Amino acid sequence: MAEHTIHVTINGAAHEETVDSRLLLVHFLRERLRLTGTHIGCDTTHCGACTVVMDGEPVKSCTVLAVQADGSDILTVEGLEKDGKLHPLQEGFWQEHGLQCGYCTPGMLMTSFALLGRNPSPTEPEIREAISGNLCRCTGYVNIVKSIQFASAQLAGAGAAEEVSS
Ligand code: FES
Ligand code: FES
Repeated sequence: MAEHTIHVTINGAAHEETVDSRLLLVHFLRERLRLTGTHIGCDTTHCGACTVVMDGEPVKSCTVLAVQADGSDILTVEGLEKDGKLHPLQEGFWQEHGLQCGYCTPGMLMTSFALLGRNPSPTEPEIREAISGNLCRCTGYVNIVKSIQFASAQLAGAGAAEEVSS
């Protein structure tokens, strides 16, 4: 079986690893790096529980080979919190009850993170379209949409405060 050396940055840390050519990114993250916040719900690209952000884009890590991630910058759910402070999206999912069992939540967070990166003030239809590849069996999505709107408002408020103080 062919092996390859890959270089990836994950949550700000550089990694050099040797991987089998058939190793999936989700297994690399969970089993090699023990970043088990990225969940596996289906293995068939349907549920979105395995979503991570790769070079700014949400990807289903059960559908990406680890070798395809060579040279990329990856953010997983473990990288959202900074200096002990929750990301506004995490705060939003908490405040607006955007989760029940929590299984879909890491993927929802990472898809939402990428959405707010390219569109800081999404409309409700834009939010619903963005998370359409992430399935939730518990919440009915209403509170997930509210959670993302909460984060969008928080980030807009923080941006406005920065402008006033500069
Ligand atoms: S585990 Fe990847 S889409 Fe379901
Ligand atoms: S909170 Fe249970 S699957 Fe979404």
